[in-house]
Amino acid sequence: MSATIAVAPGLAAAGLSKSVPSLSQELVGEVLRGLTRRGQKTLPASWLYDAIGSALFEVITLLPEYGLTRADAGLLERKADEIVAAGSPGAIVELGSGSGTKTRFLLEAAVRQQSPTSLGYFPIDISSAALESCAKVLAAIEDVAIQPIEASYLEGIRAAVSRRRGRERLMLLFLGSTIGNLSPAEAAGFLRAIRRLLQPGDTMLIGADLVKPEARLLRAYDDPTGVTAAFNLNLLGRINRELGGDFCLARFRHEASWNPKRSRVEMHLRSLEAQRVRIAAFDLEIAFRAEETIWTESSYKFEAGEIPALAARAGWHTVSQWIDYDWGFAETLLAVPRIAKHG
Ligand code: TRP
Repeated sequence: MSATIAVAPGLAAAGLSKSVPSLSQELVGEVLRGLTRRGQKTLPASWLYDAIGSALFEVITLLPEYGLTRADAGLLERKADEIVAAGSPGAIVELGSGSGTKTRFLLEAAVRQQSPTSLGYFPIDISSAALESCAKVLAAIEDVAIQPIEASYLEGIRAAVSRRRGRERLMLLFLGSTIGNLSPAEAAGFLRAIRRLLQPGDTMLIGADLVKPEARLLRAYDDPTGVTAAFNLNLLGRINRELGGDFCLARFRHEASWNPKRSRVEMHLRSLEAQRVRIAAFDLEIAFRAEETIWTESSYKFEAGEIPALAARAGWHTVSQWIDYDWGFAETLLAVPRIAKHG
């Protein structure tokens, strides 16, 4: 990777050029574009997950108010054997490497059902740190050949497909309701693009958080301990640390609101006063009006039947669905049909 960033002429002058090689130019470009937009300012959600943000997210998954991860993991723990039997994978490909806890249930079930050959496991992540910690956690499982792929999801799937042994089936995992962080159009496009890379009989397990009462949703995304607020505000802290920003975090507030029309929780950072913020790496000053917000993430919530419908539009067939009614979470197993109806 080159040490200069075209969009950041002030970077070298600010003495920050050393940190550049570790930053993706694309991501830094998105930060700049999002903050200099005419209308609604935005920040890319993937900027949330530096070392501090990833640690804060791990804490979020432990909060009593955030039942999503526990519901996802609990379903996988209870249903792993059924899920694996329905897909009979020779290799498992995971989009995002996560903490490994949830994946363990599926890998162990797959090893139990597997013939003498070892099971392939391909975690795909753009973060090498995430891949390393995932590999460490799962290394103890016997008869699993862990092959981390440091890449974007589609590139990573291509790489995993090229390492397919004979006619073995692949099972893709897209857990944690990450599909809810895409717009419906993006989600359909993503599912279609994935399907085109696979073969008939390959499967994909999708975890999706379901619509639930507004008060419950808002507590999950604005917990009383303030961990979620810290997680969101860390976006500004990261700009200060890595791009020489001078955001005063106390002058912004985390906000979560429910948009029933779009069926999504919207996360913002609201400026509590009119203020100007300097970002040395961009050699730029950004003005905020009082009450102006930066939109940081959307988290779509689904009715259980919406996932099979969305999948059908992308040419997938739904094999089966498992639902946790206590929290409201669904695992849906999709398969690539013999003849796809939609290009
Ligand atoms: N994408 C996750 C989700 O939608 C992460 C998340 C949890 C999140 N709380 C957040 C993202 C608050 C931004 C702000 O559940």
